[in-house]
Formats: sequence, C-alpha cells, structure tokens
Amino acid sequence: MIGPRYTPLVDALPATVPFVGPETLERRSGAPFRARLGANENVFGPSPKAIEAMARTASDAWMYGDPENHDLKEALAAYHGLRPENVVVGEGIDGLLGYLARLVIAPGDGVVTSDGAYPTFNFHVAGCGGVLHKVPYRQDHEDPAALVALAATVRPKLIYLANPDNPMASHHPGRLIEQMVEALPDGTLLVLDEAYVELAPEGTAARIAAEDPRVIRMRTFSKAYGMAGARVGYALAAAPLARAFDKVRNHFGMSRIAQAGALAALADTAWLEQTRRNVAHARERISAIATANGLTALPSATNFVAIDSGGDGAVARRIVAELGARGVFIRMPGVAPLDRCIRISAGRPADLDLLEEVLPEALAAAREPVTPA
Ligand SMILES: Cc1ncc(COP(=O)(O)O)c(C=O)c1O
Repeated sequence: MIGPRYTPLVDALPATVPFVGPETLERRSGAPFRARLGANENVFGPSPKAIEAMARTASDAWMYGDPENHDLKEALAAYHGLRPENVVVGEGIDGLLGYLARLVIAPGDGVVTSDGAYPTFNFHVAGCGGVLHKVPYRQDHEDPAALVALAATVRPKLIYLANPDNPMASHHPGRLIEQMVEALPDGTLLVLDEAYVELAPEGTAARIAAEDPRVIRMRTFSKAYGMAGARVGYALAAAPLARAFDKVRNHFGMSRIAQAGALAALADTAWLEQTRRNVAHARERISAIATANGLTALPSATNFVAIDSGGDGAVARRIVAELGARGVFIRMPGVAPLDRCIRISAGRPADLDLLEEVLPEALAAAREPVTPA
C-alpha cells in the first residue's frame, strides 16, 4: 500500500518542532512544575475584563468567529491610528509568520536573520523551502547594521528582527530601526517582531508610516496582555500586503472567544499599566536573585531576564535541568555564545520566592564535576 505521498520539500524537512512544551516535560518527569517561568508567558494573566468577555462568549462558542475579525481590526486600527485595511489578525505572531512565509517564500528564496534569534520564524521559512542566512549577535543585541549588510549581498525576500529581542531581552531605540528601514535593499521586506514592545522603554517602537511597503510589524496579545493561550496576534502593514494575507490565512482560525477577549483586553489600559509595573518589579527581583547568587543579569526590555551563567552552554543547560528538577521551569538560548545564559520569565512573588529558594542548590548541583558513567 502506498502511504501519503509527501512533497519533496516535506520529505526533506526534519521531524523537529522548535519548542518542547512544559507539559511535555511534566509528562516525562511525572510531576507538575511549581513555577512556570520558561515560556515568557505573562503569569499576571489577562485583564479581568477580558476574562469576563471570554467567559460571556463561551456560551456562544457554537458559532464560528467572525472570519473578517471586523470589530477587533477596527479597534486595533483606532488604537494605532491606522485604517482597518492595514491590520491583519491571526493566530498569534507564530501563525502570522507562517502565513507570511507562505505568501513570499518559494523553495530556494533567501531570508536574513540573526543566529540564535526567534526560531519559529526559521521554522516557517524552512517549511516553505527558504534558505536562511544568519549574522551573529553583537554584544547580546541583534545587529541591524550587519543584517542590512548581509541583505545587500543576499537580496533576501525577508529580513527578520525582533525589537525587543528574544532570547536576550535586549532592545534598540525605535529610531535605529527607522534608519535600518532606510538602508534596506529594494524588494526586501523587514519583519519587525514587536512581541514585547508594550513592555519596553518609551521610544522602542519604530515609527513606520501606515503604507510603507518595506516593513510589516507584528504584535501579540500573548505577552503584555497575558493571553498566550488564546492565540491572538496581529500585523500592521501596507494595505496591499495586509490584503494578501486573505489569500492564505485560515479564515475561521480566530475563535469567537479569542476575538472577544482581545477586544476587551485592548480597551483595559489600566490593566496593561498594572502589568507593566508587575513585570518591571519582577525583572528587578530576578536580577537581585541573580546577583545574590554571583550571577549577572542582562538588562531587559521584556517580561523575562537573560542571566549569564558564568560558564558555557553546557553549564547553562545543567542549571536549566537542575531548576527543572526542583520544580522551576525555565529555558535558555539555543546558540553560542548566547547559550551561556539562562532565561527566566517575570513571575509572581510566590514564583520568585521558589526561584530564590532553589537557585543556590540548583547552581551547586550544576557545578558539581560530571562523573564519567
Ligand atoms: C520574539 C517573539 N515573537 C513571537 C512570539 C510568539 O508570539 P505569539 O504567541 O503571538 O505567537 C514570541 C513568543 O515567545 C516571541 O518571543
């Protein structure tokens, strides 16, 4: 019997996924984590008004969501001072990156990104047969000048930059990104991933004209709005590009519940302010815990902190494992030299109490000489 006849492209793809979820780790270990600080989720949660809207909409879940996301697009357009024609709503930034790759990447097409930057972008590009060209980070920052210099030779269809960045939590001022846009080669679209921008210092968001065809900005309700599980992201782009998403997007991909929740979350600016304060406080506490343990926390413009382990990737990996064994889920960057760090999401006081309690033991265990088996 002949099995499914995969495309040559799919046949050539590795059977990997970019992330191993905390649930997978919990199933493996047989014990739930006591603090979930690895996925840059926002433990402070959604606005109570968003929760109320989602709960109210749950009984309407027999209906599909509005395939045009009309109300949410109107609200987002008003929020950003754009037209709804400049807004695309999708299943998180991850979903939108997949649609974008499908729109522009054919097998063999080049893209430029940074070595160690957000891997889901790479995953989608590879899924379309695109070819990734990478530049290294510079002093734990993505390097706009190097990205543009490589783009000048590769002439990629896409160039990816997250501002602020994951996994290092660093950021550039928006005006540097505006200069980067001016230096892009013709025909290269900048994918500006602003997943964390609401948590970054004033001036981090680049000012991009609504109809600028050189940039697509991506935003999400997963981080500052605390709704990662609802899967709501959006892109801001010139109207023709925004319209092109209609050719490939999953028209009923946005649940009615998620749409209602995002609409209410966007309106609750007081909750967003409170989240910003909670996150800032948690960042400070994580840095203080790092310092008390002889480690150096890097400055953060996000809801997580990268902490230099003082060793290499192997040391950082052991710390991640030892914290995991003590009930604290964290992650780390995947590529050297970034992988000398561990990455800890902003937590509630109880989460960080546990981190504070178990980190010294975890560090001691991670530093024990490895005995050959
Ligand atoms: C830089 C960056 N982009 C996008 C995402 C995913 O966002 P979403 O939940 O909207 O898919 C993340 C999540 O960690 C991220 O760090």
